[in-house]
Amino acid sequence: MRKRLFAGNWKMHLDHLGARALIREIRAALDGSARALAASREVIVAPPLALLYAAAQALAGSDILLGAQNMHYEDRGAYTGEVSPLMLKPFGVRYVILGHSERRKLFGESDEFINKKVEAALRHRLNPIVCVGESEQERHAGRTLEVILGQLEGALEGIESAQMAAITVAYEPVWAIGTGVNATPEQAQEVHGSIRYTLESRYGKDTAGATRILYGGSVSPGNIEALLAKPDIDGALVGGASLKADSFSKIVKARLD
Ligand code: 13P
Repeated sequence: MRKRLFAGNWKMHLDHLGARALIREIRAALDGSARALAASREVIVAPPLALLYAAAQALAGSDILLGAQNMHYEDRGAYTGEVSPLMLKPFGVRYVILGHSERRKLFGESDEFINKKVEAALRHRLNPIVCVGESEQERHAGRTLEVILGQLEGALEGIESAQMAAITVAYEPVWAIGTGVNATPEQAQEVHGSIRYTLESRYGKDTAGATRILYGGSVSPGNIEALLAKPDIDGALVGGASLKADSFSKIVKARLD
């Protein structure tokens, strides 16, 4: 049984006071359901790197886990402006989002670069959330699965079955990010099913069956239930709706049966 996972990707929003306030509000909103939540799902917030300390303090004593939005693959070195896995660990960071489409598109991250980061994260016992997603043009050209599976293979190059226990995959169609137009549950399921099938042919049924595949792209309290009803959708990577305690907590509590 896969434990559901809900991660809030705050992107480059908020300052340290805003981060503290949002965490306080999320904690208050989730408090009443703490036991049921802990039994069935993991909740992560991923603030900007500069706010990790403030966020870690505000999360003290809570079940909510801390994530980072990015990192470099080297432990140290002449990489101006970069942050290494070693620097994330002392804040209690447990998850790291890697290969987000904004990193790929705006900062030129390649599959090979992302693959190095995945390896570095595993080496430091950080759990990578590996993002894949097609653009609108790629979807219209009928290339969705080819693109997604290519990105997946690239990011997981050299990764072995035993290492997959630490890895989560996130399907985020680029055209659905920040647009208010989510992939339909059927569109998302088609891709999630193909991702799981690919993982199965590569790593076997048990490993593929245990790997969580998140959906991201305009997730909201209004569409999360239908998305989670699909067999291969195991949670969500949430952008805009994670910046409000009310919407994020509603998403986290969806289908809390
Ligand atoms: P939105 O939820 O704002 O569409 O962002 C999705 C995303 O990019 C999460 O990583």
